[in-house]
Amino acid sequence: MIQLHDKQFVPFISAKEIDFAITKMVAQVEDDFGDDIPIFIGVLNGSFMVVADFLKKYKKHCEVSFIKMASYEGTETTHDVKQLIGLNQDLTGRTVVIIEDIVDTGNTLVELKELFKKQNVKHLKIATLFFKPEAYKKDIKIDYIGIRIPNKFIVGYGLDYDGLGRNLAEVYKLAE
Ligand code: IMP
Ligand code: MG
Repeated sequence: MIQLHDKQFVPFISAKEIDFAITKMVAQVEDDFGDDIPIFIGVLNGSFMVVADFLKKYKKHCEVSFIKMASYEGTETTHDVKQLIGLNQDLTGRTVVIIEDIVDTGNTLVELKELFKKQNVKHLKIATLFFKPEAYKKDIKIDYIGIRIPNKFIVGYGLDYDGLGRNLAEVYKLAE
């Protein structure tokens, strides 16, 4: 059990399970793109760990960049998603893979899709390490999913509760 601010969290997903899920996602992406050099775009802050581990396993040529959005305050999703750091790169004709730490309601994905619509990319794919199917309310296709989880608030492996918990190597869920 760990304590972050006022809440307690219990172990939920091990580092080994995470590693296994990322290995599987990388294999799928490597298979799908032939000789295209994809540009992976991590959605900050939460995705920094999954992007790092994903790229270390990705053995073909690739590029990486980041974008910063925000939608969470505490443990409740807020409805308006803000883009805090934008893209300043020409993505015309490129194969782009957005890498998310977690897809919850899908509000962030809608904003991201909107943003990339104007970029004339060749392919736009979406990868997420964690996915909450019960919370997902959109019909945007998610191309690569690492681990499906119940509708619980989790921390660790990049994910935070009000700033804390991102450095945990394993994932914890809110204690009931
Ligand atoms: P969505 O827009 O509701 O899909 O939420 C997306 C963002 O909310 C994610 O990229 C995370 O940053 C954050 N988020 C969603 N669920 C959790 C959670 O269980 N723990 C911590 N952050 C979360
Ligand atoms: Mg995120």
